[in-house]
Amino acid sequence: MRAALVVGARPNFMKIAPLMREFKGRNVETLLIHTGQHYDKNMSKVFFEDLELPEPDIYLGVGSGSHAEQTARVMIAFEEIVLSKNPDIIIVVGDVNSTVACSLVGAKLHVPVAHVESGLRSFDLDMPEEINRMVTDILSKYCFTTSPEAETNLRKEGVGGDRIFFVGNIMIDSLLYYMKKSEDSPILEDLGLEKGEYILVTLHRPSNVDSPEELRSLFDMLNRLSGKLPVVFPVHPRTKKMIDTANPPFKISSDFKMIDPVGYLDFLKAMRNAKMVITDSGGIQEETTVLGVPCITVRNNTERPITIDVGTNVLAGTDPVKVEYEALKILEKGIGEHGIPPLWDGKTAGRIADVLLKYFD
Ligand code: UD1
Ligand code: UDP
Repeated sequence: MRAALVVGARPNFMKIAPLMREFKGRNVETLLIHTGQHYDKNMSKVFFEDLELPEPDIYLGVGSGSHAEQTARVMIAFEEIVLSKNPDIIIVVGDVNSTVACSLVGAKLHVPVAHVESGLRSFDLDMPEEINRMVTDILSKYCFTTSPEAETNLRKEGVGGDRIFFVGNIMIDSLLYYMKKSEDSPILEDLGLEKGEYILVTLHRPSNVDSPEELRSLFDMLNRLSGKLPVVFPVHPRTKKMIDTANPPFKISSDFKMIDPVGYLDFLKAMRNAKMVITDSGGIQEETTVLGVPCITVRNNTERPITIDVGTNVLAGTDPVKVEYEALKILEKGIGEHGIPPLWDGKTAGRIADVLLKYFD
């Protein structure tokens, strides 16, 4: 089996790294393709170092653009690669534009596509990721799911049970593999933070950050919270663009620390030791669930409801008053009972390799 594995954006690297390791151990031939959707050092290269990923075999260098431009550029460049390299299978992860672009190319060239993290649905078509998820799933021969409700979602959309494989959460493979190593990160000392005595924030969803008014009111709320506990915010480039052009500039209090995006090991250390995390990220809802760290999700819906049912996640909506209310509640009372979803155990890459190798044998 010759496997083409696709990465493009920040949340892809920690999902592909465990598969690369697993395939290497089983002598599977791999072709690692980086589309270049994310390209800043701290959105891309740092993850190759932290996650011990080999250099990509092929870098498509598509960069930023509108949805159509970015998706089309990936498709054109990726089609050439598939035609010249003839992989037996194309493995895509998550829900970014690179994911859907490469699935479309694979399906049209009749190369089987495997989608890792299949079946997640927010039921919100205003999210570009929801479109990417639905299209990728319908085109995939192998739909690898993280949680039982993903299978229900897929079956409702007509995906047959023979294409669905419940294998668990591959992000958690990376989390558990690198947990110990992340303890060596100096991030807390560098930022002057005490364990359990700060709030970690990430925000990058267009619905939260593309409107200056929405973002300003979220910043006002984070300023207020920083009066209770220091707030640390590694700022995504999409969000930074907005902050840099805000007029008048956003007010930032002294205990509200804005920093550049950080690498995987630094972020893991910061997340694990935070009092709580406030985020609109998909993956961070899952990682905090496993770490047992309270997470407030600044969205009106989530494609990862198991993190609320089982884990530490609270869906607060996007109204800053509600987010603040939930944060103060956690500061006062902490969170109740929580657990870890089934098969979020660090062994997902092995289960995926078992399924694929069985088929190719
Ligand atoms: C993308 C994904 C989103 C994912 C997020 C993870 C899509 C549709 N969206 O959103 O699902 O949650 O990545 O981080 O695929 N930029 C830089 N440097 C970079 C990358 C981006 O400056 O290395 C800036 C550019 O101005 C770009 C903007 O960020 O236009 C948005 O980047 P893009 O990849 O289009 O979407 P994200 O918001 O990063
Ligand atoms: N992450 C990181 N550094 C940061 C912010 C996030 O390493 O400064 C990691 C985080 O631990 C998780 C992944 O990036 O593994 C989530 O990516 P992101 O939030 O960009 O995308 P989403 O999951 O929302 O698609």
